[in-house]
Amino acid sequence: MTKGKIIMIKKHHFIKTFLVLIVTVFFIQLNAQNKIDTASKINRLIKQMTLEEKVHMIHASSSFTSGGVARLGIPELVTSDGPHGVRPEHGRDWKLDNNSLDSGTYLPTGVCLAATWNPQLGYAFGAVLGSEANFRGKNIILGPGINIIRTALNGRNFEYQSEDPYLVSKMVVGYIKGVQDQGVSACVKHFAANNQELRRHIVDVEMSERALREIYLPGFKAAVQDAHVNTLMGSYNRFRGQWASQNYYLLTQILRKEWGFKGLVMSDWDAVNNTMQALWNGLDLEMGTDLHMLPNPDYSKFFMGDTVIALVKNGKVPEHLIDEKVRRILYVMYRTGMINGKRSPGEYNTKKHQQTAARVAEEGIVLLKNSALEGENKLLPLNKNSVKSIAVIGYNAERKQSMGGGSSQVRAFYEITPLAGLQNIAGKNIKITYSQGYEIKRGVTANASLIKQAVEAASEAEVVIIVGGWTHGFNYSVWKDNAYDAEDFDKPDMYMPFGQDELIKAVLKANPKTVVVLMGGGAIDMRQWVDSTPAILEAWYPGLEGGNALAKIIFGEVNPSGKLPMSFPKKLEDEPAHKLGQYPGDSTLHYFDDIYVGYRYYDTYKVDPQFAFGHGLSYTSFAYSNLKITGKGKRAAISFTVKNTGSLMGAEVVQLYVKQEHASLPRPEKELKAFDKIFLQSGESKIVNINLDENAFQYYNDIENKWVMENGIYDILIGSSSRMIRLTGKVKL
Ligand code: BGC
Repeated sequence: MTKGKIIMIKKHHFIKTFLVLIVTVFFIQLNAQNKIDTASKINRLIKQMTLEEKVHMIHASSSFTSGGVARLGIPELVTSDGPHGVRPEHGRDWKLDNNSLDSGTYLPTGVCLAATWNPQLGYAFGAVLGSEANFRGKNIILGPGINIIRTALNGRNFEYQSEDPYLVSKMVVGYIKGVQDQGVSACVKHFAANNQELRRHIVDVEMSERALREIYLPGFKAAVQDAHVNTLMGSYNRFRGQWASQNYYLLTQILRKEWGFKGLVMSDWDAVNNTMQALWNGLDLEMGTDLHMLPNPDYSKFFMGDTVIALVKNGKVPEHLIDEKVRRILYVMYRTGMINGKRSPGEYNTKKHQQTAARVAEEGIVLLKNSALEGENKLLPLNKNSVKSIAVIGYNAERKQSMGGGSSQVRAFYEITPLAGLQNIAGKNIKITYSQGYEIKRGVTANASLIKQAVEAASEAEVVIIVGGWTHGFNYSVWKDNAYDAEDFDKPDMYMPFGQDELIKAVLKANPKTVVVLMGGGAIDMRQWVDSTPAILEAWYPGLEGGNALAKIIFGEVNPSGKLPMSFPKKLEDEPAHKLGQYPGDSTLHYFDDIYVGYRYYDTYKVDPQFAFGHGLSYTSFAYSNLKITGKGKRAAISFTVKNTGSLMGAEVVQLYVKQEHASLPRPEKELKAFDKIFLQSGESKIVNINLDENAFQYYNDIENKWVMENGIYDILIGSSSRMIRLTGKVKL
């Protein structure tokens, strides 16, 4: 290259850098100016408001709205559940409106989304929700729910995501950004330590500061600092003696002072118990309805209602405290264009929304087991061209799940059940029969005549597909008929309900070529039949396209790539919450299991789970090689190669776990610190590069009350699950 050319390139480079700098400075200034403008507009509005108007804004005004001030152009805030679809209209008075056009996209539930281990899908999922919320005139979507899965019994695990704080932190960001990029606020919930439904209104959770920081808070912190969530919901339970929705330590010390949260904090519905604490400790908005007051609830009687007006008038509470709350509510309204803004009309029930739901199901359903019967190939995928007949058995094959579960219910535009999906995808040449196999009824055990019918069908068919597991309850229109995977209820135990163990065992005897498909929010006790069942799939609650997604996986049109976002223990007694900790607790609930939640426990205490955290099979195979690790200061750069060595295109979730050797405080055997979902054609390989910073190595030292990273040796474990470590190396930092 000539000297002249080099000078030219340098000149160009200089001009380019200069222009980028000018544009960046311009936008920073514009942003700062906008912030000042918004702040002064908010101040101006507050100055014009009477005390009564301000107080009207800090409590509910109907089942899902809070008060506005029409004369100043401040609208009501309209909220809606929930985390996997916009909830049916409940009017202002909790009456389910059956005439409303509210059948929307029923997305797979949170746990299925987490099982995709695909943060981009988290964004797509959130974007569907945000768009449909806009269409339905909602300002805030009451999701995502991200409480850590601490016990398999928690009735809301299906809405939540994982036992692992890192996985939650990554998935939650995409979801929230997806919602909020549509101009709708997300509401991350339930803050904090709400890890069971049983006694959720009573328990007082005690846990170490270390468990709080390492396990229960990271997802919320990511929601605030990485996703900039606009709103957050406090939970029902108490935390260290104070109700979570009016808890100084959680809402003021951690959320606002440490994390810098600027948005609004609302209570869970009727979760406020004391006006002064709510006012002073960081709550901005009291939501809920005193159901005893129906049909004419008087919202001014709320803790944050008339009492507050009296307190301010009597000089017991300064008005600026109320202004602060109104300011945060207005801040969210400005951010989402509710005042002086243009709102997107949103879209409803589009093909694209349905395709996103399908993709999440296809990537979230987990192939737990796939083995061969003697002398044959692995049972799955089934070959459409050779299978002649299939007996589909089990109530869940036909049951619609969308309206179950409690507040997260969705009226689905349509719902492809597993049976319908299998019929759609199998084509005309395969004979499909259906038998119910078991009943879904309170207190019901095995039904001999249904089992007999199922056994007959199984012995006549070439292959059997049993679809069972959990369900949301009994009669969805009756709240108290909720059970199992439902709000306000925990599961009574981890056993298969309704005599399904007997059914599966009888069917396996009649026809060993049986696939068991489980639905539900997580682990179930499979010990009675797991060894004799050649193929098992976990389908969660896979949304309105779930049946098609499941069938595509069964017939090999989609290669499964979901991985468990939680460990499946063999039996309930193996679970750390039950073995080390307390559940359901008395008035105080001690988390003695501490940081040993999920695989952190199973791996450290050497207890074999039924299926490990991160486990999930594929129809192809992957080889891992060439691990390279370099460390410098507090960072490490890692690379390795993954190759698809099978004959089908597939995706592998590569998981990076870190273990510190010789830490000053006890640490888990391994902890997830990075993952990536890699899509590979047959024969293709990719180099995966991962950079770890000190977050990957530190732990919370609750003697010194701070995060620390110790110098020393760290093991780097690359796995296809927490128990299937494929490459290991060390780095000295
Ligand atoms: C649930 C929340 C929900 C709210 C409104 C509460 O009972 O815990 O998750 O958003 O109701 O329906």
